Amino acid sequence: MALMREAGVTMVSLGIFSWANVEARPGEYDFGWFDRVMDRLADNDVAVCLATMTASPPPWLAKLAPETLPRGADGTVLWPGGRQHYCPSSPVYREHAGRLVDRLAARYAGHPALALWHIGNEYGCHVSACYCDVSAAAFQDWLRARYGGVDGLNEAWSTAFWSQRYDDFDEVLPPRVNPAFANPAQQLDFQRFSSDALLDCFLMEKEIVRRHTPDVPVTTNLLSVWKPVDFFAWASHQDVISHDSYPDPHDPAAHVEAAYNYDLMRSLGGGAPWLLMEQAPSAVNWRDRNAPKGPGRMRLWSYQAIARGSDSVLYFQWRQSRGGAERFHSAMVPHAGTSSRTFREVSALGAELAGLPELLGSRVEAEAALVLDWSSWWALETDSHPATDLRQQEANLAHYRPLWESRITTDVVHPAADLSAYKLVVVPNLYLVDEATAANLVAYVRGGGHLVVSFFSGIVDECDRIHLGGYPAPFRELLGLHVEEFWPLAHDGEVPLALTDGHTATGTLWSEWLTVEGAEPLATFTGGELAGRPAITRHPHGDGVAYYLATRPDPTTMGLLLRRFAAEAAVPPVLPTAPAGVEATVRRAEDGSRYLFLLNHNPFAVTVPVPAGARDVRTGSAPEPEVAARGVVIARLG
Ligand code: GLA
Repeated sequence: MALMREAGVTMVSLGIFSWANVEARPGEYDFGWFDRVMDRLADNDVAVCLATMTASPPPWLAKLAPETLPRGADGTVLWPGGRQHYCPSSPVYREHAGRLVDRLAARYAGHPALALWHIGNEYGCHVSACYCDVSAAAFQDWLRARYGGVDGLNEAWSTAFWSQRYDDFDEVLPPRVNPAFANPAQQLDFQRFSSDALLDCFLMEKEIVRRHTPDVPVTTNLLSVWKPVDFFAWASHQDVISHDSYPDPHDPAAHVEAAYNYDLMRSLGGGAPWLLMEQAPSAVNWRDRNAPKGPGRMRLWSYQAIARGSDSVLYFQWRQSRGGAERFHSAMVPHAGTSSRTFREVSALGAELAGLPELLGSRVEAEAALVLDWSSWWALETDSHPATDLRQQEANLAHYRPLWESRITTDVVHPAADLSAYKLVVVPNLYLVDEATAANLVAYVRGGGHLVVSFFSGIVDECDRIHLGGYPAPFRELLGLHVEEFWPLAHDGEVPLALTDGHTATGTLWSEWLTVEGAEPLATFTGGELAGRPAITRHPHGDGVAYYLATRPDPTTMGLLLRRFAAEAAVPPVLPTAPAGVEATVRRAEDGSRYLFLLNHNPFAVTVPVPAGARDVRTGSAPEPEVAARGVVIARLG
């Protein structure tokens, strides 16, 4: 407690993997030791984000009910000995978990330390889908609810193909290992079902804690953008969005991907502040090479989360353990104790954050958005496509990175969301769109929006069936073109492009034989089979404009194009003339005060043109134009 005071700790998350320690034998609960920790925290004014402890069942559950263990697509059992070894659909797991949560919530309802519920932990982190017989039966129920009769399923899954017609739901299995390509709609529905099965576990626990503590908010810590779990489906069930962030200090672009995740977290909560629930004080232990965060980097990356909407900085973990799988994971109190760089840096940051209460609750300003839809992501990355190495996150980052570099703050939103607040919306390779989503994007442009659509978007419906009528049928009129053939490039292949303004560039990954029907070419392919055909187009539609990229331009050209499109949409960058490697965002408080964040990710000092009238929130004076290596400036704008 004394060290926590020294480090400025005001909240801890507690009990995440404590199930076996409070219920050593089935039904025998001992919360004595846990009471002491809770009480001591309360006595020291440290709030508790209390975990429901269900993320890893005790070994006795596997002995008592082996069917609670999950199985992979090839039937492999995932045994106890690590963590998260439960089948999400297992009624036995849910019953034991629910009973524990009920005891826990009853015991700590009204406890002065209890501030927030932390349901489960990182759902889907290790076991995101289970293929066992229990899961198969649950999948069949899920399909019955979705399709009503088996005819609806046959239609949706196109089972006339390859003799896959089902006569009854009880014949349907998860997409287990099979001799060929699994039915694409079956794969897609299984991903939906698996995300829902985990969400059901979350909701079961949430319902219990709500009953005991209706006024205590509820969250679960979301991973960095994670394919198996549809964050948009989960978001509305959280009272506050929380996130675990582990950028790799060895990766020179790690902070860009982190920014993308923070923008997603903010957008999941409709722009409300979110919580950075976990980050490493220094190194992690689970990559091949685990770099510590060099001096100043933990501070810089913590402020990056705040700059993009977080209202907290929490860590995994408080004290480094002697044994167990995470003994080499850094901690606020490392093996070396308090006379360590890590403890000094976390304590210094704790003291700084205590002096910044005025930032709490303010919201990040963003006029651009980039879309992400889990169903489309799942469908895009199934097999048997024109190219199977088109990855959603790579695609999204290829579009996001130039926006980050240009200091254009971008929300990450679902394509069916209300987009009217945005001037520019970017749609990277949105393979699957249902009718409502397509209509939403079209209406956005009609109403005056600027939309950038990349190749292989709008190709299939929600059951992975082609939208007929000329690719991409739902966007054909919007874009003023149709695509006749997809033309993926050879591995590592490139295709030359010429922009109409004379700029030459290269396209990567993909190209298309497209025919314009009203769109104006902004670039053409200048080599290969498609030489002379359009590659990038612009099409005014209604009151707005739709752009189309039939290839992925090299990063420089992507930046140039997105800056041009943003300028046309009247989206100004935050600090257009700041040097490269400087991140800048603005948070706006309810009273109208605006706070500029400047983050220098460079390992050297830079000079930044700070707007006149800005006042450093710590000193109250005009910030120095020189920002130190890994330095941070937070200034109230005049
Ligand atoms: C995740 C988990 C923690 C811990 C960290 C290590 O975020 O929630 O329990 O394992 O990873 O980085």
